[in-house]
Amino acid sequence: MSEVSTIDLNRLPEHVNQTVRIQGWVHGLRGSNARQFLSLRNSGKILQVLAEKEILGEDLFSEIKHLKQETSVEVIGKLVENEKSPIGYELVLSSYKKVGESDNYPITPKEHGIDFLLSQRHLWLRSSKQLAIIKVRSELSYQIRKYFHTNQFTLIDTPILTGSIGESAGTLFSTEYFDLGNAYLAQTGQLYLETAIFAHNKVYCYGPTFRAEKSKTRRHLTEFWMVEAETAFLTHAENLMLQENFVKTVIRETVAACGPELKVLERDPSTLLDYISKPFALIDYKEALEYLQSKGEDIVWGDDINSEREQMLCQKFGGPVFIQKYPREAKAFYMKVNPEDPRTVLNADLIAPDGVGEIIGGSEREESYETITKRLEEEKLPVESYEWYLELRKYGSVPHSGFGLGTERLIAWICGLQHVRECIPFPRMMERLYP
Ligand code: 4AD
Repeated sequence: MSEVSTIDLNRLPEHVNQTVRIQGWVHGLRGSNARQFLSLRNSGKILQVLAEKEILGEDLFSEIKHLKQETSVEVIGKLVENEKSPIGYELVLSSYKKVGESDNYPITPKEHGIDFLLSQRHLWLRSSKQLAIIKVRSELSYQIRKYFHTNQFTLIDTPILTGSIGESAGTLFSTEYFDLGNAYLAQTGQLYLETAIFAHNKVYCYGPTFRAEKSKTRRHLTEFWMVEAETAFLTHAENLMLQENFVKTVIRETVAACGPELKVLERDPSTLLDYISKPFALIDYKEALEYLQSKGEDIVWGDDINSEREQMLCQKFGGPVFIQKYPREAKAFYMKVNPEDPRTVLNADLIAPDGVGEIIGGSEREESYETITKRLEEEKLPVESYEWYLELRKYGSVPHSGFGLGTERLIAWICGLQHVRECIPFPRMMERLYP
């Protein structure tokens, strides 16, 4: 037996018509008194294993027939091509060994409520749909890093414990930090990225960010992964071009690599490919407001555009839409005031269709020391803790722009999901910290 190679399900094509060993878990089992089909899970994929009484004999066949869901096993058999199997191969079992028992596995093939499943997240990760979502997430993360790396952006790992507020004072997690007062969990890496453009011009960060937002919506997590990019000498208009190219590239590459996963999720890839085959729409906040008012919406200057209204705009344009130049009071202190209309800032949010909503927030940054100090004061933020950030405006200040993309929202869009809670292995939400 020792010459039999142990393989994983990513390497099946190299081993067709060979006898191989595969280690994994009993995902499911069905069949008759003469043959059983065991779904074996390994490396996020499922292989059909055919167990026949005639080959295995009465005792071994009976043992297999009574295997319980999630028992871990080692199987040996001949790998053959089989068009009917979802991954194109089947293993014809010749011998097997039990590795670990599993009894009364709580997640059965019947329907379970979402609260139950979330409280079983440590086990739920093994279910077919969850396997697919996490694979898409992993592929997308790789594509994101690849995009920035191949486009000469330098990775800057920004801190998670911070002393200054990045976005808004209302949504901070804070903790005591020795004798230095409060530290906050980062809402964004942006302010630190801005320091690094003076050293590296084009930089990005990609990591967990935290918002103590009391929102229980389908698109809010208290801990989410944001990828942010920042570029020196980049204007607002150029920033939009970069975002569009970035989003289209990572979607195209992820869709190309995740065909089987999208099939499990019943997400038609052509829907996404259609969206990214055309230029993204661009509308000023002011025009968006007029459009929404013309549709009978009760919305006035300064109001946020809520998720239903965002979707009305996506419907109008038949795809993703950038909404740009928001009223300055609605946005963060660092955004550059629009010289052509000082009531607004040079920012844009990218809104995804299919009920997903805002996936990117970005802007050109205020580069004047005086203006940004004034903005901090207006927002009643403690200017002294931003001293280092303000110094960037003293030593060779330049026009610069950047953006942040919430990866769970992009995953939800790619996977065709209505909620971000399944798009991260262990979602953190207002009412959930377990497991
Ligand atoms: O628009 P936001 O707050 O922008 C920033 O944090 C900027 N500092 C980014 C930058 O310019 N470098 O957040 C950016 C994106 C949103 O568009 C959304 O996709 C996601 O982060 N996001 C969330 N995702 C899940 N749960 C939450 N609570 C989120 N809050 C924001």
